[in-house]
Amino acid sequence: MAGNWKMYKTPQDTARFFIDFRPLIANVNHCEIVIFPPAIDIPEAVASAANSGIAIGGQNIYWAAEGAFTGEISAQMIRAAGAAWVLVGHSERRHHVAHEADGDVLKKTQAALSAGLTPVICVGEKLEEHKAGKANDVLVRQFAGGIAGLTEEQFARIVIAYEPVWAIGTGQVATPDIASNAHKLIRSEAEKRFGDTAAQQLRILYGGSVKPDNIQGLMREPEIDGTLVGGASLDPESFAEIVKAA
Ligand code: PGA
Repeated sequence: MAGNWKMYKTPQDTARFFIDFRPLIANVNHCEIVIFPPAIDIPEAVASAANSGIAIGGQNIYWAAEGAFTGEISAQMIRAAGAAWVLVGHSERRHHVAHEADGDVLKKTQAALSAGLTPVICVGEKLEEHKAGKANDVLVRQFAGGIAGLTEEQFARIVIAYEPVWAIGTGQVATPDIASNAHKLIRSEAEKRFGDTAAQQLRILYGGSVKPDNIQGLMREPEIDGTLVGGASLDPESFAEIVKAA
């Protein structure tokens, strides 16, 4: 169960969150919990989450280890700061802030894996693609360009998040059925390229307007292995409720 804080919370807010959140999930041992704070908050999050079992991840990396890339941050750097995970290809980066293409997603994933991070690769169709019945085509294209180029050994270490863009931050959650079908499609692409065992072992998270009041229906679907939560992960109580429903 993963929380993507996007561009919210200072280091001080981060410390406060963990003081409130840790007791709420102290008895949780049925799932992994990962929080993706802004990069500036990673050291505070790592310190605040020590010995809690909660892992910390970055929201983005550049693919080079170091160099003249003003404003960027590398996989090695966030790893050295204590992050163990990283989001790659979030739709806000693909479509709003950075125009990331599938080829960038592949390079960032490879860089994350070389640095020992677990990448969560985000895929999903936009509203107009959803309305035009093109969701499957988009997922197939994103898989082919961003994921299929991995080796089998690399593929075994990734997590995929299906995040339909029309459901992100809109309050309009995908129905368990829509999410489940998209996950099946992704798993079948994985099977074609990497084989049956690798596809069965792949964890696929759903993301997009996950809230305490819709988590139960989503988690009932065997195809949904967890969720990537934006807005509702900012509040310790609502994220704890979501985690407990996993
Ligand atoms: P949301 O965001 O839960 O606020 O819709 C999900 C995400 O973008 O990962």
